[in-house]
Amino acid sequence: MKITIVGTGRVGAAIAFAATINPMASELLLLNRTRDTAEGEAIDLSHATATQNSSMRIRAGDITDSAGSDVIIFTASVPYGDPHRKRSELAGDNLAILKHWIPLLAEVSPDAIIIMVSNPVDAMTYAALKLSGFPPHRVLGTGTLLDSVRYRAMLSTELEIHADDIRAYILGEHGDTQFAAHSLSMTGGERFYPSDMSRRLFEKTVKIGYEVSQLKGHTSYGIALGTMMILDSIVYDLRHTMPVSVLIEDTFGVNDVCLSLPAVIGRQGVTRVLRPPLSEDEQAAFQRSGEAVGNCIRGMGA
Ligand code: LAC
Repeated sequence: MKITIVGTGRVGAAIAFAATINPMASELLLLNRTRDTAEGEAIDLSHATATQNSSMRIRAGDITDSAGSDVIIFTASVPYGDPHRKRSELAGDNLAILKHWIPLLAEVSPDAIIIMVSNPVDAMTYAALKLSGFPPHRVLGTGTLLDSVRYRAMLSTELEIHADDIRAYILGEHGDTQFAAHSLSMTGGERFYPSDMSRRLFEKTVKIGYEVSQLKGHTSYGIALGTMMILDSIVYDLRHTMPVSVLIEDTFGVNDVCLSLPAVIGRQGVTRVLRPPLSEDEQAAFQRSGEAVGNCIRGMGA
């Protein structure tokens, strides 16, 4: 299993470190615009694997070296600069990065699965799909997986139920129009109904990424291990269902845009996009997400 991480900034480096601790690949290749950074990360990570019983080969390289990758994790991004900046404001600049890298990566790894992490991740997932020419099941984005993990963690604390026993999906855009699909929520075997508490926690979920960025300048560990959840399900063909950004085709009145719905993830990528029984309000919220991401895609000229 060969995995290529494109971008060795804080998110890419955190993912690379997580992949080192949980070595599921025979080779981990690091690509970065500034080669020295990737070289330094690769050497440092090779020292980390030296403490583990791991034969994973870690190196920095260029696009040619990435040939034959099974999974490409794309994290390259322009800096946020102002932590108050909306994810969607990165679209134009990050599209330019994708236009440089994705066609070349796709050419040398024609059978790879692409996991998009760069924000705005829904628009970037759509752009990667178009630029790579890959089938939709092999291009997905982290989407609202991290939002769902954050929301479940908050509910777990509030309800004093283990997060593993809480099914709570945040769906739609990984951004301000995301919504909690409470019609699908279960907590420890009981139906879960919206309340002032859940609304308070959901509002906190939407904002928490910005709050962390304002405190430490970025987010990295949550998105890194969220990406590893997806990678795990691919590498071991686990068929986990998780809310990830996928191409939406004629679903709940939304078409030809990438948004998060529960999807089954296996060795071939997205093996199935589920169509959960959303309420009318939730379907309307999904459509609002579709409009927001559609506007972002049109605005950046993908
Ligand atoms: C966050 C980034 C990944 O929400 O958008 O932390």
